[in-house]
Amino acid sequence: MPTALTLPTRLLCILLALLPCLSQANPPSPERQRILTHLLRQECGSCHGLKLDGGLGPALTHSALTGRTIEQLAHVILQGRPGTAMPGWQAFIQPAEALWLADLLLNPPSGQP
Ligand code: HEC
Repeated sequence: MPTALTLPTRLLCILLALLPCLSQANPPSPERQRILTHLLRQECGSCHGLKLDGGLGPALTHSALTGRTIEQLAHVILQGRPGTAMPGWQAFIQPAEALWLADLLLNPPSGQP
């Protein structure tokens, strides 16, 4: 006769099932934010310039991106721009993380152009 799951086990299952949804909706963890910021400087910077002021790829500074929406930028980050050097990053960056990066580019910490 199969034994019924105990209540704590059931709650644990529900929690585990919800985890992916939670990680989508929430901003990246502080640890992940550090990784993403590093990625932005190293990987994105290799094309967009060390200070993201342009190189092979266009400048990603606040002033250069005026008029763009967070969603538009996140879309380019995830999908890339077909036919250009801009690669898609969806294998490395989650949708919520792309939104966070786009927000960082559009609303950089003060002191940056
Ligand atoms: C191999 C070079 C390369 C790398 C690496 C790269 N990009 Fe790009 N990116 C480009 C190019 C080239 C374009 C311009 C595409 C076009 O002509 O529309 C671009 C365009 C963009 C745009 C759109 C800008 C606009 O004005 O609409 C965003 C946003 C962007 N990149 C973000 C990133 C981010 C974030 C990363 C790192 C995760 C990254 N890129 C890494 C080459 C690169």
